[in-house]
Amino acid sequence: MDRISDNIAREALASIEAAGTRRALHTWNGAVGRRMRLGSRDVLMFSSGNYLDLAHHPEVVEATARAARDLGCAAAGSRLINGNLGCHEALENELAAFYGTEAALVFGTGYMLNLGVIPALVGEGDVIFSDSLAHASLIDGARLSRATVEVFAHSSTTALSTALSRVRPRFRRALIVVDGVYSMDGDVAPLDEIAADARQHDAMLLVDDPHGTGTLGVQGRGSAELRGCLGEIDLLAGTLGKALGSFGAFVVCSAKVRDLLVNTARSFVFSCALAPPQVEAARAALRVVAREPWRRTALQSNATRLRDRLQVAGISTSPSTTHIVPVQIGDNVQTMSACASLLAAGFHAQGIRYPSVPRGTERLRITLMATHTHDEIDALASAVISILS
Ligand SMILES: Cc1ncc(COP(=O)(O)O)c(C=O)c1O
Repeated sequence: MDRISDNIAREALASIEAAGTRRALHTWNGAVGRRMRLGSRDVLMFSSGNYLDLAHHPEVVEATARAARDLGCAAAGSRLINGNLGCHEALENELAAFYGTEAALVFGTGYMLNLGVIPALVGEGDVIFSDSLAHASLIDGARLSRATVEVFAHSSTTALSTALSRVRPRFRRALIVVDGVYSMDGDVAPLDEIAADARQHDAMLLVDDPHGTGTLGVQGRGSAELRGCLGEIDLLAGTLGKALGSFGAFVVCSAKVRDLLVNTARSFVFSCALAPPQVEAARAALRVVAREPWRRTALQSNATRLRDRLQVAGISTSPSTTHIVPVQIGDNVQTMSACASLLAAGFHAQGIRYPSVPRGTERLRITLMATHTHDEIDALASAVISILS
C-alpha cells in the first residue's frame, strides 16, 4: 500500500516528467579523475569540478590516509562542543595566509556556508542586492535571512548602482551577494566595480567563488585576485571540494566577522565539523596549488583551446572566459539528447536544464581540467560539432 509520501512523490514526479526536467543519478566507477568508468564504458570527464586533477593526487591521497590513521575518520561533533581540532585551526590559518586576510572559517559545504553566513550578517529591516544569476545557495541564504531582496540584472554595475541609490537609504544594513565565476556560464563578475559600488553605498560584499578557488588569478586566489580587488571584498567564500580535491567550504574575512560567524552562523554552530581526512586533504592540495602554478595555466589554456575550436565552427560559448564552457541549446529534449550522444562517443558533458538555468537556456555545460590533453580537447570539440550540426 502506498504511503501519503509515495502519493505526493508520484504526483510531483509526474509533473517534473511532463515538464521534461526529470533527473536521474548515474553511477561512476573507478578513481575520480579525467577518465572514469560508467558501467563498462571508459568516459572522458568534461563535467567535473576536479579542475586541477587533485582529487586523486598522490600527495593529497597520502595526507588523507595519514590523517585517517593518525587522527581518525570523524570530528564527531560540532566545533563549539567537541569537534574543534588542531587541523581545523591549521587549515584556517593557512587559508587566511593564502588570501592575505585576518581569518578564515570552514563550513561543511558551500551551500551550508551561504545558508549560515547571510543570516548572520543581515535580517529583517536590512536589504540584500542579489545578482539575477546568483547561485541557489545565495538565494536560499537570502530567503532565510528575512532581509528584503533586490535582484539586479546579471553583472550589470549600472543596474546595481541604480538599485543601491534608489533602495539603500531606506534600510539599516545592506549586503551585496554575487558569484565570482558564474557556475553555469563561466563568466567572471566585475568584482572591482561591484566592490567600488559597495564602498560608495556603505554596503557589505559577499563573493561566492568556489569555481575560482585555485583556478584563477596568478596565485590561484580566484576571481577577486583576477580582478585586482582581493583586499576589497568583505567576505570571500571558496571551496575545498572542487579544485582542492577534498570536501567542504571556507570563508575568508576579518577576525571580528569570523568571531560573529562562530557565534551566530547556524549552519556552523549546529553542524558537525569536517572530518580530519577532508581537512588534511585540503591542506595538502593548497600546498600543491602554491607549488604547481602550471595546473591553473594549463586549465585556462585548455579552456581557451576548446572555446576557440567551437567558435571557429560557429558554436557560441558566450559569455564564458573561464574553464566552465556552456554550449547553449535552448531545449530540454535536444539538450539531453546531445548529452546522450556525447556519452555514446565517450565524453561526459552534463546537459543542464531548469531550475539550474533559466528556461529556454538549456545547455551542455563543459568543464575543463588541467590534465586534459590537447588531443582529448580536440576530440571533444569534434564530437560536439558533429552532434550539433
Ligand atoms: C557558485 C556556487 N556556490 C555554492 C555552491 C555549493 O557548494 P557545495 O557543493 O560545497 O555545497 C556551488 C556548488 O557547486 C556553486 O557552484
